[in-house]
Amino acid sequence: MVKQWTTTTLHNDVEMPTLGLGVWKMENNDEVKTAVNAAIDAGYKAIDTAAAYKNEEGVGAAIKESSTPREELFITSKVWNDDQGYDSTLQAFEDTVSKLGIDTLDLYLIHWPVEGKYKETWKAMEKLYKDGRIRAIGVSNFHPNHLEDLMKDAEIKPMVNQVEFHPLLNQKELREYCKQHSIQLEAWSPLAQGKLLDHKVVKEIAEQHGKSTAQVIIRWDLEHEVVTIPKSSNPERIKQNFDVFDFELTQDNIRALDELNQNERMGPDPDNFDF
Ligand SMILES: NC(=O)c1ccc[n+]([C@@H]2O[C@H](COP(=O)([O-])OP(=O)(O)OC[C@H]3O[C@@H](n4cnc5c(N)ncnc54)[C@H](OP(=O)(O)O)[C@@H]3O)[C@@H](O)[C@H]2O)c1
Repeated sequence: MVKQWTTTTLHNDVEMPTLGLGVWKMENNDEVKTAVNAAIDAGYKAIDTAAAYKNEEGVGAAIKESSTPREELFITSKVWNDDQGYDSTLQAFEDTVSKLGIDTLDLYLIHWPVEGKYKETWKAMEKLYKDGRIRAIGVSNFHPNHLEDLMKDAEIKPMVNQVEFHPLLNQKELREYCKQHSIQLEAWSPLAQGKLLDHKVVKEIAEQHGKSTAQVIIRWDLEHEVVTIPKSSNPERIKQNFDVFDFELTQDNIRALDELNQNERMGPDPDNFDF
């Protein structure tokens, strides 16, 4: 029996799918609509967008067209850095749901830990959560030091932390910290933006299982109980990336992938970003 982990229960008892579609860099037109439609047809329930991706309308159009009922889907968006602060976050949230054409979000995240701003932003997230507008609230790109600082004044602990995570950056310390605090870790750029797909070690493991290198990496995320949101605009690859529930990695495979860690980032370090 292959071990399954298709949903995770967040600390507020909300069920979150463990594998979703990321839509960063997709155009707000047929590109994002086709991708979201293909994902829903392939069995995905979760879509990860953000105000900064400027494609929330396209995601919304696909949700509306889909025959899957809204309540079966899990939609994530994020408040962008320029909108951080109490009132501006409340406004940014209204803009996001209006563009998506829905009333409530399943998960809303603070996109980056903007210094001096994120605590006020969090207060607005807590209000929206208590008002029933969001089913779960969380953060993105938070190191343990940011989480410590946020939680000093927070009434509600973040349910999710979405960070860059892949075999070249396996975030061991942050993973342990989040586990200890019942914060679900979620991987962005799980495929290292494509950089890992031709790696020799990943290729060998893929051959062993008759799977693609992308599937092996996605499965490695799930083996580590990290929620993952690979991006693809291609319907065939979207389908392929979801076909990871019929095999599992061996302990040796997991160790070999763990050993690829170089603490190498594709994106900026959350302790040092300027946008
Ligand atoms: N919170 C944050 O700050 C943050 C930052 C970055 C990303 N994210 C989220 O994380 C999601 C994923 O990260 P990402 O978009 O940076 O990169 P990624 O998922 O690591 O990699 C995407 C790249 O891999 C290719 N690809 C996907 N599946 C493939 C397959 N089966 N075979 C071959 N190539 C494949 C895609 O090309 P094709 O499209 O041509 O298939 C694309 O070039 C984003 O879309 C976004 O939702 C969040």
